[in-house]
Amino acid sequence: MRSIQGSWKSSSLLAASLLVLAACGGSEPQQSAPEAAAPEAAEESVETAEAASEEVADETAEAAEDAADAVEEAATEVEEAANEAVEEAIEAAEDVAEAVTPAADTGVSDEIVAQYAALTGDAAQGRRVFTKCMSCHVVQEGQNRVGPSLYGIIGRDAGSVEGFRYSDANANSGITWTEETMFAYLEQPQRFIPGTIMAFPGLPNPQERADVIAYLKAESS
Ligand code: HEC
Repeated sequence: MRSIQGSWKSSSLLAASLLVLAACGGSEPQQSAPEAAAPEAAEESVETAEAASEEVADETAEAAEDAADAVEEAATEVEEAANEAVEEAIEAAEDVAEAVTPAADTGVSDEIVAQYAALTGDAAQGRRVFTKCMSCHVVQEGQNRVGPSLYGIIGRDAGSVEGFRYSDANANSGITWTEETMFAYLEQPQRFIPGTIMAFPGLPNPQERADVIAYLKAESS
């Protein structure tokens, strides 16, 4: 009696086990669904990876382009700054040159300016020197002879005495008759204004030049 009971127990255990197995087996199709989806997912992830890498490549190219643009821009800025600096340096150098050479606009060298500054012109002596000029010039206003009137000549632009027919060389010389340019001119007029029709060899003595300039100044005031 006991053994029958026992075998019933075992068979009901067996049945329960089968039921459990059956239950497990029933869930089998559910487990196989993700397995079937795996290749698709893999494909998708490959595609995603490809898209991502393309995107990264695009972004990298764009970033490289931006960097190149930035480098170019920076180079342009550096170049502009350098040009500006050079221009400023040139301007500064010109300012310095002007400061060092106060007579730069007279068109004569520092040497001549210094030489003239060291001399004192004597108008009375200059009257005698002027006898060398008198065959062609007078100091009376408006009286042109072979050469133009030298009245008020200091401070005038070359070629500007009214009624006198100048050579092109003199008229277009661009010279202003300052004491310094006159001092340089009178040493050797044909060298200072190549092509001038003033047929006078010049005054080689610097003191004579300073004296005649003093005379011309005195006669004009
Ligand atoms: C032989 C004649 C002659 C003698 C001498 C002469 N000159 Fe002249 N001079 C001229 C002539 C001509 C001109 C005009 C030059 C020209 O147009 O190229 C001239 C021009 C000048 C000018 C420039 C005038 C201007 O308006 O641009 C000056 C300054 C001058 N002479 C000063 C003198 C002085 C100072 C002397 C004497 C030391 C002198 N000359 C002696 C004939 C002479």
